[in-house]
Amino acid sequence: MKHIFRKGTDETKPVLLLLHGTGGNEEDLLPLADMISPESSILSVRGNVSENGMPRFFRRLSEGVFDEEDLIFRTNELNDFLQEASEKYGFDRGNIVAVGYSNGANIAGSLLFHHHRSLKGALLHHPMVPRRGLELPDLSGVPVFIGAGKNDPICPAHETEELDQLLTGAGASVEVKWEQMGHQLTRAEVEAAADFFKKELL
Ligand code: MLT
Repeated sequence: MKHIFRKGTDETKPVLLLLHGTGGNEEDLLPLADMISPESSILSVRGNVSENGMPRFFRRLSEGVFDEEDLIFRTNELNDFLQEASEKYGFDRGNIVAVGYSNGANIAGSLLFHHHRSLKGALLHHPMVPRRGLELPDLSGVPVFIGAGKNDPICPAHETEELDQLLTGAGASVEVKWEQMGHQLTRAEVEAAADFFKKELL
């Protein structure tokens, strides 16, 4: 997968896996990494799917309706890539924290839903429920931050609540930060994610 790897100054800190939104790329979330954990190594990945030229992490059939088969395929592909990258760059596969926005948050959620211990934790900005009717792996000891907008038209509040319940039900420790905003990523939300990271993941 096309990506950027930037070795951190403190290799004991979690590696930040950056996952952009639809139409973004591996450069987009680099400023977030500096706000969250400036000493961490960074693995920032570009989605392998193109929707009319816009990079994504998996295909969708329409707005908010995911192509499940592709979602599963791409989730496995990303999970395999994390293993390969950890060997190539020499970092601990068990020490990865995802930072995702929108479509990137959705594939991060899908990693948590499908692969036991795929992530040490996750900071999800405006995620949706990636799949329904699935038995989730044991997520105890996995901290998950969710940044959500009360007026998010793409990810309505009830979907955030559903995701919170599913993750919590699997044992994850979830914190939801609500804002009176839409789908956009705000600085206040990233600061809250950075505080959560320091409290729960260091
Ligand atoms: C998705 O397709 O992953 C969500 O609708 C968010 C987005 O617009 O990318």
